[in-house]
Amino acid sequence: MARIVHVDDLDDPRLADYLHLRDVQMRLAHESEHGIYLAEGEKVVRRAHEAGHEAASFLMAPRWLDGLRDVLDASDAPCFVMSEKDVERVTGFHVHRGALSAVRRPAPADVDDVLAAARRVVVLEDLVDHTNVGAIFRVAAALGFDAVLLSPRCADPFYRRAVKVAMGAVFSVPHARVDDWYGTPALLSRHGFTTYAMTLADDAVSLEDVGDVPERLALVVGSEGPGLTEHWQRSSDVRVTIPMAAGIDSLNVATSVAVACWHLR
Ligand SMILES: C[S@@+](CC[C@H](N)C(=O)[O-])C[C@H]1O[C@@H](n2cnc3c(N)ncnc32)[C@H](O)[C@@H]1O
Repeated sequence: MARIVHVDDLDDPRLADYLHLRDVQMRLAHESEHGIYLAEGEKVVRRAHEAGHEAASFLMAPRWLDGLRDVLDASDAPCFVMSEKDVERVTGFHVHRGALSAVRRPAPADVDDVLAAARRVVVLEDLVDHTNVGAIFRVAAALGFDAVLLSPRCADPFYRRAVKVAMGAVFSVPHARVDDWYGTPALLSRHGFTTYAMTLADDAVSLEDVGDVPERLALVVGSEGPGLTEHWQRSSDVRVTIPMAAGIDSLNVATSVAVACWHLR
């Protein structure tokens, strides 16, 4: 059963996992050093628990205790309790749906294991925006894609913002980060995947015209700024575009994944 610990001192060192929540660089450094991620909001804290992830601690105002009682009862971790105002002072922002939990990161999955078990994969090249990464996991979970591959520089799916936007789908959709990005088209091919590069190239096939969906499909999308690299555009089996109205440059990357997953599901 979680130990309920009432905390008055904002400088209490036990709150270290909850500081500077708005500072992405500090958070990434702290979380990778301590092997944790942050679950935010009652539902996400519960889903982390249901996924079997181990809480290192909880932080919440008293009014969230009852709703999470079963989760707290199942954990040995301390639950720090403070007023809503003090939680806001510690974290640096207003915590939507009040509860937070520092959770131990699961061991990274093996890329070959993830691919061997999947039929539909979304592949993310160098996405920088955690909101986009989270939204793509949610889309994948909702529309029947069963894994996500991340390039070495792609934003962290366990970063608080991504976890929150995904509403916990980062816990349920298997994913792995690839080391050899250049070799990933060949890796997907060895696993029997046909790769669709999502691109704005003029000579790409319209999504409506791609025909029968292959047995194993990898949908590859590029970074928010530069888009998909030449290497992926050349190495993919099919280059696919979502036709847009004249004068529009591109769709948001998560939106493009949603449209494609819906069409190909
Ligand atoms: C914001 S876009 C990048 C725009 C970039 N200037 C470019 O030329 O690709 C990010 C990614 O979303 C996907 N995307 C966005 N709109 C798309 C569309 N209409 N058709 C296919 N893919 C699209 C592509 O994978 C793209 O690399």
